[in-house]
Amino acid sequence: MRELRTKIKGILSTPSFDKEITVMGWVRTKRASKNVAFIALNDGSTINNLQIVADVEVFGDELIRKITTGASLSVHGKIVESQGAGQACELIASSIEIFGEADPDKYPLQPKKHSLEFLREIAHLRPRTNTFSAIMRVRHALAFAVHQFFNDKGFSYINTPIITASDAEGAGETFKVTNFELENIPKTEEGKIDFKQDFFEKEANLTVSGQLEGELAAMALSEIYTFGPTFRAENSNTTRHLAEFWMIEPEMAFYDLKDNMDIAEEMLKYLVQYTLDHCLDDLLFLEKREKEDEKNKPQNERSELSLTERLQFVLDNEFERITYTEAIQILKNSKPNKKKKFSYLIEEWGADLQSEHERFLVEKHFKKPVILYNYPKEIKAFYMRQNDDDKTVGAMDILFPGIGEIIGGSQREERMAKLAERMSEMNIPADDMWWYLDTRRFGAVPHSGFGLGFERMIQFVTGMGNIRDVIPFPRTPGNCEF
Ligand code: 4AD
Ligand code: MG
Repeated sequence: MRELRTKIKGILSTPSFDKEITVMGWVRTKRASKNVAFIALNDGSTINNLQIVADVEVFGDELIRKITTGASLSVHGKIVESQGAGQACELIASSIEIFGEADPDKYPLQPKKHSLEFLREIAHLRPRTNTFSAIMRVRHALAFAVHQFFNDKGFSYINTPIITASDAEGAGETFKVTNFELENIPKTEEGKIDFKQDFFEKEANLTVSGQLEGELAAMALSEIYTFGPTFRAENSNTTRHLAEFWMIEPEMAFYDLKDNMDIAEEMLKYLVQYTLDHCLDDLLFLEKREKEDEKNKPQNERSELSLTERLQFVLDNEFERITYTEAIQILKNSKPNKKKKFSYLIEEWGADLQSEHERFLVEKHFKKPVILYNYPKEIKAFYMRQNDDDKTVGAMDILFPGIGEIIGGSQREERMAKLAERMSEMNIPADDMWWYLDTRRFGAVPHSGFGLGFERMIQFVTGMGNIRDVIPFPRTPGNCEF
């Protein structure tokens, strides 16, 4: 049996001096002189490395030479107060075992700054960098905090299906699921694809949202949430879109639109506070990284606030809540609209807002998170509750600085007649949706919910500019490696 391993995080936060311990991890750097080698070892439990001090004479040149960046080690020794600057304690090695060497001529990660673009090409190794290990720990903390938040409020976690036969958002961006032989797809007599012969005996796809099934559960358990992968075949090569992303979708019976906004704002603040409380080392590292990065940018592209200041700012301010109609007024009269600086000029009520408009409202006009509500029904999904004006629906989107839309949600149309009418206007086949409509036939109640894009939340908290850098293995048009 292997000796018990002590994690580096615990050693650094509460060192037990003169204790014999074993640590295991990967070499970040090594500096060796004739007599002594200093090895920075990282085991992923923290952003910080443990300094290992090895006597070259004791271990021999041969072994010390094999200890290179990326190699994996088990080191036994004693924790002592450090003589050098930069660390409080270090480990004096009494034995070293090399698990795996990493040939320095071939190992792609060298102790220097690599570009994010290069690291995306070696996504299988990038968690071994400071930046990506920090992001992955923050991602974990946020996922944990989501469950904590809803559990504390008495919500039930529901797993909705990943394979469905519906397109909840009605945007036609689904990936198909089939086990047809693609070279030999069965056809009907009319020459159409014969889905009756397919695995599910009907057309199926990967889910774009767990909402519809979430609503079914909320009609029994009152307050539920889903947290799962969702898939969208939208061909948008942007810094905020993935083909496979994770979404948190709470659904609450007896909540109206205002209750929905209240809990969404409370949740976002809770998540931000949680990371400040539990991931400060990682956040401060990412903040420093961002500052260095911004040195190469023109003044007007640098953020006014540092990363942790931006997080604190979200906690300290109430989100601005304005209607879509008010937002259109502001945008119409805005400088970039009048000077034709927007790519999509805002001319009249009813226009869909682009990310440039959302970011103008958040970053330039209000300078804080904004909740936009009561959107034109034409630009929103069929399930949103129709307002009395016959023009708008009880939708709400939350817009964040640097991100744009982070949450999309609404009060749901619980009135059977209104819902059926809207579905037929939007050509949504009511027959296939009989199960969804049953909740309006039997014991319907007012209810609301929203979806938080998990990766966009991680982008905000880590300050990462590209969504591909906050998920271990991004799926985007043309990218399905690893
Ligand atoms: O606004 P969306 O499309 O809303 C829904 O799917 C609703 N069914 C949610 C609900 O009410 N239960 O998506 C919700 C959020 C967006 O605000 C955005 O943060 C994120 O999901 N999102 C994406 N994130 C990454 N890549 C994409 N392609 C995304 N599309 C949406
Ligand atoms: Mg949306």
